[in-house]
Amino acid sequence: MVTRLCTTQNITTVNGQFPGPTITACNGDKLVIRVTNRAAYNVTLHWHGVRQMRTPWADGPEYVTQCPIMPGGTYTYRFTIEKQEGTMWWHAHSKWLRATVYGALIILPKPGSSYPFRKPKIDVPLVLGEWWNTNIVDELMQAMLTGTAPNISDAYTINGQPGDLYDCSSQGTMKIAVRSGDKVLLRVINAALNQELFFTVANHTMTVVGADAAYNKPFTTSVIMVGPGQTTNVLLMADQPPARYYMAARAYSSSQNVPFGNTTTTAILEYKTARGQTSSPVLPQFPPFNDTATVTQFTSQLKSIQSLDKVPTNVDENLFFIIGLGSVNCTPGPTCQGPNNTRFAASMNNVSFVLPSETSLQQASYQNISGIFTTDFPPSPPLEFNYTGNVSQELWQPTPGTKLYKLKFGSVVQIVLQDTTILSAENHPIHLHGYHFFVVGQGFGNFNPETDTAKFNLIDPPVRDTMGVPVGGWAVIRFVANNPGVWLFHCHIDTHFSWGLAMSFLVENGKGNSQSIEPPPADLPQC
Ligand code: C2O
Repeated sequence: MVTRLCTTQNITTVNGQFPGPTITACNGDKLVIRVTNRAAYNVTLHWHGVRQMRTPWADGPEYVTQCPIMPGGTYTYRFTIEKQEGTMWWHAHSKWLRATVYGALIILPKPGSSYPFRKPKIDVPLVLGEWWNTNIVDELMQAMLTGTAPNISDAYTINGQPGDLYDCSSQGTMKIAVRSGDKVLLRVINAALNQELFFTVANHTMTVVGADAAYNKPFTTSVIMVGPGQTTNVLLMADQPPARYYMAARAYSSSQNVPFGNTTTTAILEYKTARGQTSSPVLPQFPPFNDTATVTQFTSQLKSIQSLDKVPTNVDENLFFIIGLGSVNCTPGPTCQGPNNTRFAASMNNVSFVLPSETSLQQASYQNISGIFTTDFPPSPPLEFNYTGNVSQELWQPTPGTKLYKLKFGSVVQIVLQDTTILSAENHPIHLHGYHFFVVGQGFGNFNPETDTAKFNLIDPPVRDTMGVPVGGWAVIRFVANNPGVWLFHCHIDTHFSWGLAMSFLVENGKGNSQSIEPPPADLPQC
C-alpha cells in the first residue's frame, strides 16, 4: 500500500519500495539479481542501457528474450557491466507494470579510475515518474484491450514523491542538503510512461556531463529535456545565496493535441544554513510546454567525448524505417477508439509489432523453433514519398506481424528513422536494446539522402540508447552489430509500444565463443 495525494493504492513494488531500490555497481562488475515474483501479475525486469554482451537471456523484455516470471516464480539475472559508466535504470518490461516497478542503476568508474570531471561531493539519482489515484495497472490493461490511450497521471513525481506543490505532499518531498561550495551530481532519469519532461533547478546553472550512460563534452544550460527512457547527468555548484530552491520537472509536449498533466513535480535543494526556513523555496522558470526550439537547442549541444570508439564509416546495412501512428479497421464497438471506427495501431515500415506468447523470440531463435517469427521485416515505402505532408490514411493501415530483421555479426548498421505526421503530434523516444548507438543526424521534415547525409556529425556525435525522433522529422543512428541475440527496438512511449511501434533485430553469432551468445541459464522461465 502506498499513499500519495491523500489516496492509498495497492501497487506492485520491488522490496516494498516505491520507486524500487537504487542499484550501484562499478564498471566491470558482475551483477547477480534474484527476482521472486510475489505479485499477481507476470513480471520481467529490464536493465535499461546495459549492453548485455552475449547475455541476451538477462535483458528482460517479456516474450522477446525470456518468458515472463509467473506469480510465485523466481529467475536470477546474471550479467556483466562491460565498458559502461553513468546512469542507467531498471524497470519491469511486462505489459504496463513499469508504471510502478522501476529504479536507478548507477555505474561508477572502476576502483582506481575516475570521472572525466572532478569527483562531486554529493551524488543523487532523481527518478522522474508518475502517480495515479487509481489502480493504474488494471486500468492500463483495459486501455490496451480497447486500444484507447491511458488516462494521464494525477502527478509527476521525483523519487516517487509529487512534491509540495501538490496536495498532501509536503511531508515526503525529496530534499538534498548542501553546503555552500558543494558540487552535486544529479542523475536525472525519466521513468514516466508517456511523457517527455523538462527539468530545471531554480537560480542554478546545470553542466550536462552525461546522457544514457555515456559521457559528453560538458556544456551549461538552465533547463534539460529528458524523454521517457533517457537519462541525463548534470553537475551543479551550490554557489547561490543560502536558501531553499526547487528542483522541478514538468511536461514538454510539442502539441496540445496530446493530453498531458499541466502540473509540476518538485524536490528541494536546501542549503544547510537555510534549513528550517519557513518561506517557500524559490521556484524555477520553465520554458512554455511546447518550446521545441529550446529542446532542439539542448539536444544539438550533446557531443560525445568517447574518442575511443570511432564512428564507423563504411555502412553495410543502410536501413530506412518509417514510424507510423495510424489506425486499422475494426468491428465497430468499444475497441474502436480511433478515427472513423478504427483502432489505433502504430508501426515501423507499416508492420505493427506483435509479441508471441508461446515462447520468447530469443528462445525460438536459439532452439530453432519455427512458426514464432519470420525474418522478412520489410524495406520502407519509397524514399521520395512525402512523409510529413498530407499523407492519406489508406497508406497507413499497418499489418500486424512478428517480423525480425537479420544482421550479420560485425556489420555496420545505419538506420534513418522518419516520423510521419499522421495522427502523430509527439516525438518518439526510440530505444534499442543490447546496444549504444551514435546519433549522427537529426532534423525536421522529410529526410533528404543527399543534403542531409552531407551534414552528418561523424566526429563527436552523442552516444545514446534512446533517441528522440522529432515529430514530423527524422533522426539517423549508427552502430556495429557486435552483440549477438534478439534485440528489441521500440518507442519508449508505452502507449505507442502497446500499439505496435516496435520491431526486433536478430544479430547472428560471429566466430567462436567470444562472438556467440552464452547458453541459456538453467532457471530461464518457460512459457
Ligand atoms: Cu527501457 Cu524496452 O525498455
